[in-house]
Amino acid sequence: MFLISNDKSADLADGVSKILGIKKGDVEKKVFPDGEIYVRILSEIADQSFAVVHTTQTNDDLIELILTLSALSGGGAKNIVCVIPHMIYQRQDSAFFPGEAVSAEVVVRMIEEYCDEILLVNAHFLERGGVFEFAGTKIRNLDAFPLLGGYFSDVKNLVIVSPDEGSMHYAKAAADAVGCPYDHLVKTRLDGETVEMSPKDLDVGGKNIVILDDIISTGGTMKTAAQRLLDQGAKKVVLGCVHGVFTKGFDVFEGYDVVCTDSLPTPLSKISLAPVISEALEDYLK
Ligand code: R5P
Repeated sequence: MFLISNDKSADLADGVSKILGIKKGDVEKKVFPDGEIYVRILSEIADQSFAVVHTTQTNDDLIELILTLSALSGGGAKNIVCVIPHMIYQRQDSAFFPGEAVSAEVVVRMIEEYCDEILLVNAHFLERGGVFEFAGTKIRNLDAFPLLGGYFSDVKNLVIVSPDEGSMHYAKAAADAVGCPYDHLVKTRLDGETVEMSPKDLDVGGKNIVILDDIISTGGTMKTAAQRLLDQGAKKVVLGCVHGVFTKGFDVFEGYDVVCTDSLPTPLSKISLAPVISEALEDYLK
């Protein structure tokens, strides 16, 4: 098996390559003056197996992925496993209003056309880790929360919480990995301007709290939660997520302790998904 990656997943793919001892294939990529993307696989393709580790943050990343997969498929690859550490458009997973495009389904169907397996990491539209059918396509959803929990294994008096009940399974998966208590936050509106957020059952006084969610986008949810928990006597609050989208940049997190994985490469990507992806890819090496 050969590994192919885009630039944004290059370090992550290097990590996978080191763990599994598999080589990275060579790809030539150019962008024409009109913005069109050109992809050419330089390694031998016919009858070879490939794992494509390619994150998507922008529309161009998605087009580059489709072109890469199509070049492998058209060149006669024996097997193509497509690992997308962060899949763009994953939050529009239903038509919430009549007439809306269900972008997550469209993206999955486009990718499925050119590969044999799709592996995602904590896809927003899939509840847990495991194999699921989505948009008529089999998807293996890898769970990075035990890895996130492990990152905090040395922290004493640790409590892991999720910002709401719906995402408590993330906190549980992380807490189970380190054997600490977990809970979810409950939002109570005190008046037009004030929202209180406190853990449903646990007392945060003097505790080191880690708030975990799948995605941090603007950071609004997490920052409000952190502030409320500090007001309630938490000793320290750290914010963590799998997918650090950070749509408002990093300055808005000044004064907050934030960590995320390298599903997207950011200055806060302190936790590499390489072990989680490598473990999954081992199944295709047997
Ligand atoms: C929402 O469904 C996600 O799980 C996150 O809670 C959300 O994306 C966070 O958004 P923001 O960082 O903008 O508050």
